[in-house]
Amino acid sequence: MASEQKVAAITGAANGIGWALAQQFAAAGYAVCAIDLDLDTARARAKELSGDHDGFACDVSDADQVAKAFAAIDKRFGRLDVLVNNAGIVGSQEASIHQDMEYFDRITKVIVNGTFLCSRAAYHPMAAQRKGAIVNVGSIAGLVGLPRRNAYGAAKAGVHSLTRALASEWAAQGIRVNAVAPGFIATSMVQGLVERGLVDEGRLSRRIPMGRLGTPDEVAEAILFLASDSARYITGSVLSVDGGWAA
Ligand code: NAI
Repeated sequence: MASEQKVAAITGAANGIGWALAQQFAAAGYAVCAIDLDLDTARARAKELSGDHDGFACDVSDADQVAKAFAAIDKRFGRLDVLVNNAGIVGSQEASIHQDMEYFDRITKVIVNGTFLCSRAAYHPMAAQRKGAIVNVGSIAGLVGLPRRNAYGAAKAGVHSLTRALASEWAAQGIRVNAVAPGFIATSMVQGLVERGLVDEGRLSRRIPMGRLGTPDEVAEAILFLASDSARYITGSVLSVDGGWAA
């Protein structure tokens, strides 16, 4: 018999926003399935949390790996209440005229295909329970135009669109699908852009109405709300968590 404890699968859980999510979902009483390309770190992270959690290896863009990871989750925990599609890559940030098309395709595969494949894998246990919540991590880059975020922006706009499509399709099965659209959040992803001179942190902070970058915890808290029963009448929404940038 499946346990009473709720189970949350979080992709890209080894770092940044995903790690903040793993900690917050564990603190809220969920068993956390930390899914990542980097299995060693995902497992180590799961061990750092107190309680019954586990790490799972998966490249979310690969249909076979996604199927295997979700089968392993089902075997291990026997239920699935929440999926957060958080895994993502920011891309090479080339000037669009020089953008490498292999990288363009890779970004689309990880962000759009990855979100779709994991959502479909989560559908089966959630539909069987007639209840589930999926929260996708979109981006401000999918809402407003940002230079050089060609593939990334298009892919994140795709995630927002998938959110709405699946929300309207799966409401009948009791599955809610929402997204957050974070602005600039202090993780290694943004740090990498700063180090490569592609982003100036001071200029960035001045552009943000609230005057600073966000933290992974601030994004995780919004996701925890959308996944919870407090958001039981909310589906198909894209919630900006950006200090007012897109306002
Ligand atoms: P991060 O780079 O710190 O962590 C991303 C994690 O995803 C890593 O653990 C990585 O191993 C994993 N990952 C990458 N590709 C994967 C794949 N194919 N399959 C499985 N795991 C994979 O990134 P960060 O900043 O925590 O970003 C998390 C999400 O938030 C991403 O979707 C990103 O696009 C989005 N986001 C981040 C913003 C920011 O300012 N940091 C702003 C808006 C959105």
